[in-house]
Amino acid sequence: MKNKSPLVVANWKLNGGTDLICASVSKFLRHNFKVNIGIAPPYVYLGDMANFLKNSSIMIGSQNISKFESGAFTGETSGQMLKEVGCNFCLIGHSERRQVFLENNASCQTKIARALEANLMPIICIGENEQQYELGLTKHILYKQLHESLQGQDLTGKELCIAYEPIWAIGSGKAASPESVQSIHAYIYEEICTIFDKETADKIRIIYGGSVNKKNAAELLAMPNIDGLLVGGASLDPEHFSEICELANKQAANATVQTNAEAVLA
Ligand code: 13P
Repeated sequence: MKNKSPLVVANWKLNGGTDLICASVSKFLRHNFKVNIGIAPPYVYLGDMANFLKNSSIMIGSQNISKFESGAFTGETSGQMLKEVGCNFCLIGHSERRQVFLENNASCQTKIARALEANLMPIICIGENEQQYELGLTKHILYKQLHESLQGQDLTGKELCIAYEPIWAIGSGKAASPESVQSIHAYIYEEICTIFDKETADKIRIIYGGSVNKKNAAELLAMPNIDGLLVGGASLDPEHFSEICELANKQAANATVQTNAEAVLA
């Protein structure tokens, strides 16, 4: 399953401003990361960020997308608009949007379709809350989130990513263990193989988010079913976030060496 180079995404949420943009841009323009890196700042900074980073490999994405294409929908931003200002991806169905703004699997399904139409890679966020976790309902919740939002999507020639973010791990300092994420990602993979064909499912990255930092990133990335990371709090410090990206870079380089060695020995 791990034949994709890792994807590390920063979700700034409702944080950051000109200072963080300047610090991040100057940090990231100096690096030449081989892994895929994305930054999702608040909407108003997307155009500037995309312009500043246009000669780099860093991807820019939004934290949300409208389920409408145009019209009298005050406060909304469409997929076409996001694409036009230089976005490559958008987060969809983050647990904060589900909890605070009452988004659900049906609205996520429409938003995923809108993102795909606009050639943006949707990063669809799923995960159980603490009570569901304690009651052993994790797989049940994930099953519903996956099937209800992904059923019927046409991924021909498109990219999609799934971020498993257990709500109890977000901002709590209690990341899920690499072993448990590994097994949940295996379950997610099994389910997406039933929604799409195996070839399509194999191209979908499954990344993890929830209290990721430079201390736990390497262990998480070392797991075969973890294709990358979605980072909140730790991404607000450009130094810290770039250390996480360095770890992903190193991990990807080791994996390439190993694959080459296996090919020689085969
Ligand atoms: P933290 O990394 O702050 O736990 O946030 C995770 C998250 O919600 C990323 O989308």
